[in-house]
Amino acid sequence: MKPVGKSKSIPGKASSWLDASATDDLRVRLVNWFRAGHRDLPWRRDREPYRILVSEAMLVQTTVAAVIPYFERFLDRFPTVESLAAAPEAEVLKLWEGLGYYRRARQLQAAARAVVERHDGQLPRDVDALRSLPGVGRYIAGAIASFAFDIPAPIVEANTQRVLCRLLAWQEPITTTRSQTRLWELAAQLVPPSAAGEFNQAIMELGATLCLPRQPSCLLCPISAYCQARSTGLEELLPIRATRAEPLAVTELSLVLCDQGRWLFLRRQPGRLWEQFWEFPTLHLSGADPAGRGSGAGADPTTRADEFERLTGVRVALGDELATIRFSVTRHRVHLTAIAGHQLSGRPHPAMDAPQHDLAAWLTPEEIDGLPMSAPMRRLAKRLITTPESNL
Ligand code: ADE
Repeated sequence: MKPVGKSKSIPGKASSWLDASATDDLRVRLVNWFRAGHRDLPWRRDREPYRILVSEAMLVQTTVAAVIPYFERFLDRFPTVESLAAAPEAEVLKLWEGLGYYRRARQLQAAARAVVERHDGQLPRDVDALRSLPGVGRYIAGAIASFAFDIPAPIVEANTQRVLCRLLAWQEPITTTRSQTRLWELAAQLVPPSAAGEFNQAIMELGATLCLPRQPSCLLCPISAYCQARSTGLEELLPIRATRAEPLAVTELSLVLCDQGRWLFLRRQPGRLWEQFWEFPTLHLSGADPAGRGSGAGADPTTRADEFERLTGVRVALGDELATIRFSVTRHRVHLTAIAGHQLSGRPHPAMDAPQHDLAAWLTPEEIDGLPMSAPMRRLAKRLITTPESNL
């Protein structure tokens, strides 16, 4: 069994309650606990850095359970850096559909292209070179460097952050620069000079399985003896999170225009939320405007028909409301109603002035199945298929 490396503590950086021998003891306890059993996750089955990059890109803001099927489908289709670099972007987005935060998918592909162009298809064994890849910050660089190459790079993400915060009994909101500096400093102190990957996986596993946000299982924790939150009774109260901003209410209206079994869709311009995704023509009616749809169309049906004409090039008469869906995007809580439209004149084209879209097309439900679409729009399309008034 590979030993967990010993190290001298970093002068001036060590935490006073955790001297060099306590640091070594903590490492041994944590790694022994990890070796005794941990979750079998698909990206842990080998140390292939490309697979680690993909998993970490997917795991940002997303749970392990949600990521697993996406990870497996993605790796089936793009088993190598080269295959991802060469893929059409629409295919990458399609495989990412439902995970949200699509910018991550684009950055992942940009990172794959940079690895092919700058590093001959091999992920670099160097934290700074990793950090210079698109979408790769300090955490993902540390994860790849340590998990794949055993480089003693620290990691701080949601799970480890909670463990570190409790070890320190850190009583400031965790998002401040001072808090982040302290947490990264402790992570750097703890990561051993050898077998760093296993140690980093272990601390993350502890955060994910025992050191939970609520009701942590301190009695089972291998390092509770070093936990200052535990010794001061603060474990349930830490970490301190910044207060959440109130959600912003938004209303939107989507046009369901049908022609010979096809609906009218628009493709969103690059540079906006959901770029290159197909959607029903949609107006922002009131509240904040998360998708950058432009000025609200108000309540007047004539104004709405004018706005849809500007958006699509088609003059429509608006009919019945067909369906309503609600969804959240960032801080916004969106109430979206779909309304039937009847084409009076004109041919579809994206708006001429300040276009939000670069393409307009009549598409069957089968065709849209193969195209990238946001999860809410996909949900709406599925609902409309079973709504007789949608005229398909
Ligand atoms: N969350 C972020 N990265 C993770 C990983 N590699 N394993 C489990 N959970 C994670």
